[in-house]
Amino acid sequence: METHIEMSERRREAQIEVLEAVTASSLQLSLLAKMAHWNLKGPEFVGLHALFDEIAEHTRDQADTAAERAAALGAFLETDAGSVAEHSPIGRFPGQIRDGLELAGEMADRLAAHADAIRDALTVLRGDLGDPAGENLLADILLQVEKDVWMLESHIQGDIDEVRAEEEESEEGPELREPTP
Ligand SMILES: [Fe+2]
Repeated sequence: METHIEMSERRREAQIEVLEAVTASSLQLSLLAKMAHWNLKGPEFVGLHALFDEIAEHTRDQADTAAERAAALGAFLETDAGSVAEHSPIGRFPGQIRDGLELAGEMADRLAAHADAIRDALTVLRGDLGDPAGENLLADILLQVEKDVWMLESHIQGDIDEVRAEEEESEEGPELREPTP
């Protein structure tokens, strides 16, 4: 499609290719986050239920941002469920997982892989393939994705610390302190 945005054909195609991939991955991540939001069970329910919903919203907004930039550059967005499944490198969950922390781990893995792909794209889109607007857009998405990875990891890490503390306590018995005189 013709647009008034001045850009070489090579640069435009390279930008669109990355933006379409980010759109597909973000939509897939949004669907997975909703799936986790709906199916999770366990003691972490309240916090993770809300966090998965936030991640679904972030990734949906990121898809919107990337798709609209691609559209501005003349792309036609194929974003029905079948096309997303075909084009997104983000895989499905390995089964019907309900455990909240396991779901947090699966989501963290996928968001981290998505972040790696964006960072790789930022490295490739340099020089005559680069575009300052596209670079800022991708960097903003990367920042948010990595923040969400950190949020998920903090839940998982907290659980690991708790398990270790419980193990130590059961091995040594509860620590008794001398009463202060
Ligand atoms: Fe909900």
